[in-house]
Amino acid sequence: MCGIVGFTGARSAAPILLKGLSRLEYRGYDSAGIAVLDSGVIDVEKVSGRIARLCEKTKDGAAVPGVIGIGHTRWATHGAPTDLNAHPHLSNDGRFAIVHNGIIENYLSLREELIADGYVFQSETDTETVVHLLEMYYDGDVLTAVRKTAARLEGSYALGILCTDAPDTLWVVREKSPLILGLGVGENFFASDVTALVSHTKNVIYLEDGEIAAITPQRAIVYDCTGREIRKDVSRVSWDVEAAEKGGYEHFMLKEIMEQPAAVRAALAPRIHDGQIRLDDFELTTEELRGINKIIITACGSAYYAGCSGRYGIERLCRIPVEVELASELRYADPMVDEHTLVLVISQSGETADTIAALKECRSRGAKILGIVNVVGSTIAKLADHTLYTWAGPEIAVATTKGFTTQLAVLYLFAVYASEKLGYIDDGRRAALIHELMELPKRIQQAIDMNFYQLPGLAKRYSSQSLFFIGRNTDYAVALEGALKMKEISYLHAESYAAGELKHGTIALIDEGQPVIAVCCNEAVCDKTLSNIVEVKARGAKVLALAFRDNRKIVSQADDVLFIPRIETVFTAALAVVPLQLLAYYAAKEKGCDIDKPKNLAKSVTVE
Ligand code: G6P
Repeated sequence: MCGIVGFTGARSAAPILLKGLSRLEYRGYDSAGIAVLDSGVIDVEKVSGRIARLCEKTKDGAAVPGVIGIGHTRWATHGAPTDLNAHPHLSNDGRFAIVHNGIIENYLSLREELIADGYVFQSETDTETVVHLLEMYYDGDVLTAVRKTAARLEGSYALGILCTDAPDTLWVVREKSPLILGLGVGENFFASDVTALVSHTKNVIYLEDGEIAAITPQRAIVYDCTGREIRKDVSRVSWDVEAAEKGGYEHFMLKEIMEQPAAVRAALAPRIHDGQIRLDDFELTTEELRGINKIIITACGSAYYAGCSGRYGIERLCRIPVEVELASELRYADPMVDEHTLVLVISQSGETADTIAALKECRSRGAKILGIVNVVGSTIAKLADHTLYTWAGPEIAVATTKGFTTQLAVLYLFAVYASEKLGYIDDGRRAALIHELMELPKRIQQAIDMNFYQLPGLAKRYSSQSLFFIGRNTDYAVALEGALKMKEISYLHAESYAAGELKHGTIALIDEGQPVIAVCCNEAVCDKTLSNIVEVKARGAKVLALAFRDNRKIVSQADDVLFIPRIETVFTAALAVVPLQLLAYYAAKEKGCDIDKPKNLAKSVTVE
């Protein structure tokens, strides 16, 4: 939940570190710091609060000379977000500085041991134990000290290390937290995410668990945990730096909402050839598919809601029972999975700790794992038996939008693919479904255009300390994600309900003027939801409905209506969610919230 970055070369390090940190700020943003080595001394500058404060303090890095350094942006776990708890942390002898993303689970016993040995702690963090261990194990050879230190650590870590005795070398080690090396010309980098590297280089090395690297301006040498040098492939990042910039939009979130037509097209188009779906490395035989008697979809946050939505399409088209489980629950649930279970693990970042744990739990019981992941080379992509990338490009805003709709696009592809293999649809129906899928990007654009100008006004009208989102079946899944978006970025309490459940208690909360957002896009259940609209209106609610554009009945019942173009029922969520993303965006804007970096949240949740 933190971001780390490092640079070694001939240029001034601090401005490069600060720029890199600002690209990683989505990972955590409660404090930040840099350490730069110059003339044998490590200068550490750190502040609580945003990176902008660190830039101010260091005069955009100009006040911190040196050509090698490390940086950190924090989402506090151990110890409050104070200046002292901010990283980097220094060893008592001033020889080592470190930055850390992850959690050292055995830090308490290590801390006691180190205090007994005379080491003095400055902070309350788990991380500080690591820098004292390095000092303890150092006898002139940094690699050995790093190996011995890593062998004592339990938990997850990506560590960046600076040592005064190796004035042009950065050391890194990874275990269960992302770490990528960037290879430049006469300069090299490391970072938690490629977004911090692409403005300098597109050539990267993805480190694996247990690997250590020594990075000088000329080369990066990677070692395994025994200290043996190993050869690593260099990968090429496929997107440009502009993709990680705001490009004229006021917020990344708005930019990413607007990118959805292109992102969904990028997820779908390369997998449809001559009217047939091809799923990269997940081509299954009919026999293999027939051998699957249950599908479990597991994920966290919005990815879980993508699963709730995708479930309807898979069950309807493939007639395979689907369970959708929160990863944080599934991992402790003693799940009933075996070699006949296919587990779809959905994650934008590919690094969510609970999702990774659920994946491992299911795999240990023999299930086959299909990852649906956005970030290339991420942990889930590596752990899964097969991975379908969502190809959404970098998503910077903490609240996901294009990450979510591209997950839906891949789930839809999977549903149609498996349905055909299993013989549930004939050529005609397949062609019709694929045609509708290929129409999705265009219709998402229409869903934006049809509502764009009225959304700021509606957001103002429906903003309230408490909102209800209702819907049935596929519309209920949309209501869940719509309410989450509203909570995440506008801090308004939004509750989603299966519309039919309202009368079992929640309707007691409906009073004069209570905003209710009713998703009414699934025609099989639309009339039922309409009855629920009538019920809440009878109790004074103010209703904003979301429906297909030719739905006349809704106009006579709801106070206001958002329209979307018509699409095949099982694909509606990818369209219907878009106006709700914009509704949340404008509600947050109206309140003056920090839309891209909502309070208390982080984009990549690597704690359990
Ligand atoms: C965080 C983000 C959410 C995201 C969830 C799961 O809570 O703020 O937007 O849906 O993590 O993340 P993942 O990367 O696994 O999709």
